[in-house]
Amino acid sequence: MRRFLLLTMFMLCSVAYGSEVLAVEITRGLMLSNSCAACHGTDGKSPGAIPSINGKSVQFLVQALYDFKSGKRSATVMGRHALGYSDEELRHIADYFSSRP
Ligand code: HEC
Repeated sequence: MRRFLLLTMFMLCSVAYGSEVLAVEITRGLMLSNSCAACHGTDGKSPGAIPSINGKSVQFLVQALYDFKSGKRSATVMGRHALGYSDEELRHIADYFSSRP
């Protein structure tokens, strides 16, 4: 009986631990950010020459993305890429990358 109780407690703890690991809130910003990972790295941490965009201010990111979209800021790829999103979507994306350490 004692063994059964211990086993049950262990299993309950495992379930609790498991759900904690899975408890990542899937926000709209997180989903939209996936398309950026190919170049800027997962969570905006770039592994190469393309700039890292994690942890920058929301204001900086929103401004950069709006400027790419409008053509005000010249770019090789970002102009075309930013055109694919609404302004609201770009704000969600900026919020997400800004929140990444
Ligand atoms: C195909 C590769 C590629 C993809 C995909 C891409 N980027 Fe970029 N990004 C670049 C490059 C290259 C630059 C440098 C500017 C340029 O030449 O376009 C850049 C620059 C930026 C900058 C300016 C950074 C700074 O420090 O000035 C921001 C912000 C940015 N990208 C955000 C994003 C976001 C958000 C996404 C996803 C919606 C994204 N990028 C997707 C290649 C990419």
